[in-house]
This record gives sequence, structure tokens and C-alpha cells, in this order.
Amino acid sequence: MGINIAIDGPSGAGKSTIAKMLAAKMRYVYVDTGALYRAVAYFMVKNSTDLHSEEAVSAALSGASVALAYQDGAQRVILNGEDVSDSIRTPEISMAASAVSAMPAVREFLFALQQKIAKENNIIMDGRDIGTVVLPHADVKIFLTADAEERARRRFLELSEKGDSSTYEEVLADINQRDYNDTHRKTAPLKKADDAVEVNSTGLTAEQSSQKLFEIIQEKLNLKKPEKSKPEAKHTHSFDFKPVRRGVKLNPVKMFFYRILRSIVTLVYKITYDLHFEGKENIPKDGCNIFASNHRSYADPVLIALPTRVPFSFMAKEELFQSNIFFTALIKAFGAFPVTRGKGDTAAIDMSLERLQKGYNLVIFPEGTRSKDGTVGKGKTGVALIAAAAQVPVIPVGISFKESLKFRRKIVVKFGKPIKPEELSITSAEPRELKKLKTVIMQAITELVETDVNKL
Ligand code: DC
Repeated sequence: MGINIAIDGPSGAGKSTIAKMLAAKMRYVYVDTGALYRAVAYFMVKNSTDLHSEEAVSAALSGASVALAYQDGAQRVILNGEDVSDSIRTPEISMAASAVSAMPAVREFLFALQQKIAKENNIIMDGRDIGTVVLPHADVKIFLTADAEERARRRFLELSEKGDSSTYEEVLADINQRDYNDTHRKTAPLKKADDAVEVNSTGLTAEQSSQKLFEIIQEKLNLKKPEKSKPEAKHTHSFDFKPVRRGVKLNPVKMFFYRILRSIVTLVYKITYDLHFEGKENIPKDGCNIFASNHRSYADPVLIALPTRVPFSFMAKEELFQSNIFFTALIKAFGAFPVTRGKGDTAAIDMSLERLQKGYNLVIFPEGTRSKDGTVGKGKTGVALIAAAAQVPVIPVGISFKESLKFRRKIVVKFGKPIKPEELSITSAEPRELKKLKTVIMQAITELVETDVNKL
């Protein structure tokens, strides 16, 4: 079951624009249910079905097959195998959709499809009856409105840009008519769910509205989780659910210098060692991921960073920052932050979450200390706590080489398939739960480490 966010509201309130922005930011699937009604309407219009006859529309429905597909993250609506995403955006189809969506047979026809998508994905779904009928148990419900005149202005600009010749007055009349139809129909009329948060977007830009909704969603999701996860035992860590906001761009200047540094260090490392990277296709192109690796040497963070575009952050013993200046500068440039041993790990966990929120990747060595003989230790549970709190993918990494690092030593660094956030959920920070999750991560790492290093 995915996380479900429902956004309902009248035509032109900005639902689709804002839901799309939020979905991109949160990496959720965006589902525009209005497009489904539009596809049915388009089918009826093309087949000259009488839109005022529920009987005729119901009978014709069996000939329509509606599906959603995603292309480069954008939703496409497929009607009987044909992509109709663009053809359904005309005023004629808007009106026809408003008419057919009032018919129970049409709503029933599209109901199962909407529920199925919501069950299988983390989604942001917009429509008229999502919070009330389709997803009554949605994790977050928002009712987005705006004054009719403002909505008409937005729609008018949108249509003019597309070359449509409708006047502002016509668009406003259309909006008023559709509002009336949508709120007065018998089946699933447009109305705010009792537990929905109402947001009026009049006078707000899309960015401002999106930010407002984002804050509401974060707050609601944060409130939901800890309640389930009240620490029970005395020794449990407190558990804060802090889902990471994805898509945060790192400073371009920093990125530029990082890229240069990475090229230079890559060259140095390639000369010094016989480097082999495997599974590079498993490395996400963007940041906000945890790379959990076995720990063999001080070179490990750099080895993981070399094939990765987005800079890393990693915890390092405070003592390392007091060693030689060159080494300190190098690990700092590669994102190291100090952890004071014995101070408890709360600060390190908070710091890790903060780095992830800023858009960095995070390297964690769950074993804590380096393994001299190459065997993988049991690992500590901190990695599980961070992964569960941040809800970001964990990419397991296995580093293998014979004995110790020497000039031209063969090093194999393997990146495994990302473990998805859905697989990294816990309901409490109880040691047993954390241990279970940690074991999943440690197993994934162990599978990537060469068992017989002498063969390398
Ligand atoms: O959001 P939109 O303008 O693309 O929606 C087209 C029509 O479909 C609109 O008049 C109302 C209807 N609709 C609905 O009844 N229920 C939904 N969940 C979504 C849209």
C-alpha cells in the first residue's frame, strides 16, 4: 500500500499544476483523474453518443478501454490503445466530461482503475471525489479552491496559449456552469471531505501554492508516523519520521568544483589502484540516497564517491579531522562531518538527516570500524534508523580487495539494486524492529562482497 495524497477542488483551482510539481518534488506518481473522465467523454463524442442519455452512455461504455501510462514521468491517457492526452483538452471535451462524470455508470467504470493505481504506488491524485469516495482513507486530503474569476483567468490564459479562441467571458461562464454541475450532481458531488485541509489559492503563484501544500503534507505525514511509533521499551531510541524532500538542487558552484575535484581524484586513484566498478547502473542520478557499505579502508568513501555524480556526506571519527592537513581537506571536500565517539549517536543521526534534506547522498558504514580481513561484521542499527526516518532508497555497496591497500592493488566496488523506502519502514524504534531492518541492509551488502578475495 502506497502513501495516498488526495487533492480535490473545482476546475481551474490549480490542482493539476500543483499536484504535478509536488509529485516531481516528492517522487510520487501523479494521477489526474479528470483526464480519465475526459477520455470517456472523448470516446462518447467521437462515437456521437447522446451525452444527455445515461442509457446510451452506459451502453457505449463497454467499447471503451481507458488506461494510464507514464512517459518521462508525465501521465498519458490511453483510450483503446490510442494516446488521447492532448485531444481531451478542448472546451468541448471539458463540457462533455462534466456531463458524463455525473453518471453513476461512468464513475463506477473508472473507480476500480483509480483505486488500483493508488494501492500500488505512492500517489498524488487530483479530482473531485478523491478524498470523499475514491480514497476515503487517504493519508492526506486537501481541498484546493480559488475564486471563480481567478480560475477563469488562469484557464483563459492556458487556452489562449494553446491557440484556442474562447473569450474570458466564455471561459468564466463555462467554469460557473461546470462548478454548478460538479457540485449539484447526485453521485459523488464535488465537496470538501470532513478531514480535508482547505487551501484557497487566489492570489498565490503556483510555486507559493505548491509550497503551502507541501508543508501541509509534510506536517500531516510527520504527525501520522510517530503516533504509531511511540517508543515502548526503556532503551529504544526516539523515532522521528522525517521523510526527505527530494529534488533539492545543490549549489551549482559547489557542484562545479566537486566535479573538477572528482575528475582529479579519479585520475589519481586510477593510477594508484586497479579499480573495477560494477553495478554503476544502480547509482541514482540525483541525490538524497543512502549508500550503505562494508568498511575496508579510509579510502572507502572516496571509492564510493568516484562513480557518483552527486556529492556525498559521511560520518567520520573526530580524530580523523586532527590528522594531516591534506587528508583532512580531502575528506572534508568529499563531505565528511565529524562524529564524536561516546557522545551518543543522536547528533550524528540528526546531522545525517540534515545532509540528506540538503540534497546530498550519504555514505554509512554500518559496521562502524574497518574490517581488516574483509569479512563483513554484524553492523549497528543506526543505518536502519536513518533509512526509516528519511524514507530514501538505500544502495548497498560491497568493497573487496586482497589484504590491504597497496600500489596497483585490484579493488572491486559493487553497487547493488536500491532497497526502496517502502521496504525500509518501521513502526517503532524498538531494537527488534531496527535489527530486522539492519539485517536486510547488511545482507544486501554481504552479497556484494567477494567471498574469496584471493581470486581477485
Ligand atoms: O479536472 P478536469 O477539469 O480535467 O475534470 C474534467 C471533468 O471531470 C470535470 O468536469 C469533473 C469531472 N471529474 C469528476 O467528476 N471526478 C473526478 N475525480 C475528476 C474529474
